[in-house]
Amino acid sequence: MARIAIFGAGYVGLVTGACFADLGHEVVVRDVLPERIERLRRGEVPIYEPGLDDVLERSRDRISFTLDVREAVDGAEFLYVAVGTPPTASGDADLSAVWTVVDELPEDVQGRPLIVMKSTVPVGTGERVRTRLDARGLGNVGYVSNPEFTAEGTAVRDFMEPDRVVIGSFEEADGDAVERLHAGVDAPVVRAEVSSAELIKLAANAFLVTRISFINEIANVCELVGADVTRVAEGVGLDHRLGPHFLRAGLGWGGSCFPKDSLALKQLAANSGYHFQLLNAVIEVNELQMRKVVQKLQQRLGSLHGRTVALLGLAFKPNTDDMREAPSRIIAHRLLAEGAVVRAWDPVARPGDLDEVEICESSLAAVRDADAAVIVTEWPQLRELVTAEVRDAMARPLIVDGRNLLDPAAAAAAGFEYEGIGRPTHSTPDRELRS
Ligand code: UGA
Repeated sequence: MARIAIFGAGYVGLVTGACFADLGHEVVVRDVLPERIERLRRGEVPIYEPGLDDVLERSRDRISFTLDVREAVDGAEFLYVAVGTPPTASGDADLSAVWTVVDELPEDVQGRPLIVMKSTVPVGTGERVRTRLDARGLGNVGYVSNPEFTAEGTAVRDFMEPDRVVIGSFEEADGDAVERLHAGVDAPVVRAEVSSAELIKLAANAFLVTRISFINEIANVCELVGADVTRVAEGVGLDHRLGPHFLRAGLGWGGSCFPKDSLALKQLAANSGYHFQLLNAVIEVNELQMRKVVQKLQQRLGSLHGRTVALLGLAFKPNTDDMREAPSRIIAHRLLAEGAVVRAWDPVARPGDLDEVEICESSLAAVRDADAAVIVTEWPQLRELVTAEVRDAMARPLIVDGRNLLDPAAAAAAGFEYEGIGRPTHSTPDRELRS
């Protein structure tokens, strides 16, 4: 069994560390935030990720947490880098946390520890790290790219049962060592040179967002021609060459990865002299898609000034408390700019910075006397929204279903005005609307 140091106790670092410990390895997770390390030592899990607490509990004897670099590095064969790489003002990835890890490595580190890059980084980062290590006299430290493909909410399963493990190395033997580390993980292994491994990650995420923006554009065409995008996606996705995944139309993609990574690939291409036209369009489609919800509300309600709108769901997707680049942010700010009163409910996400939005403790409280409810995140509990209690609580029982979560016919039959994304619209057939 190997000794593994993990730099960064965020989503990626904690899941990676916990899962490697669960596979029987000895893991030390290092972070720079004292409060985070303290909480982890007390057995608290500082992020909401289903299943992670169980894995951490199971592997408690094999995983420890520290603020100290030397404690993490001493005796470690693998130095996993799982720090944040947020976009800078120019859209390039901010690699400062990566450089801090590289620069903090003690110069007397023995043997051949391998820096293994889990963080998503621009193509060429491996080369740059290699140069920096050599300049510091750390030629004995190897470098391997091992990008992560886990999604929030399913991260533990994605780590243990991935579609593939990608390993990019300068030295064959270093790649072999990282491949052996994944012995307990049943998945095809793609071995590549470092730059290709780095690009696989960015290309995979760019392809996924292309699919979503594509189906969102099809949804917009559906609305104009009276088709239903959910049926169209089903029919398209059954072609085995296309597949059913990532064809759910909605109000756009967000999160800590897709917006950042698509921008990083766009900038990487541009910095290399290539105008990535398709990716530019994919990003633009997404920006417009989030705003379409506001247009839909205006079409139904007229001016939104003084109208009360309930946002149901704030997280960028269900089963996470993550609000990074969540479409709810854009929608909330647009509604506020139109003069609407904005209320919101989410079972776990708590925005610290949407001061003008009233956060409610239940979906019922959020929709009470509201002129419209917008389903922003497809939390499963919102499937129960179509009730007489909710309908009667609202000033106007209008649901804009930004995730096509509900059955339009059932919503209309229950007396709601219903509008999805790319679906034929339904109006209340038998009820006088209060406006
Ligand atoms: C994404 C990828 O799915 C992972 O493979 C990748 O490892 C990760 O980014 C990363 O780079 O770290 P994640 O951001 O956790 O994972 O979430 P997804 O489930 O992919 O959803 C992203 C966004 O796309 C959400 O806002 C979701 O609502 C939206 N989406 C997804 C759609 O609008 N339609 C779909 O059909 C699928």
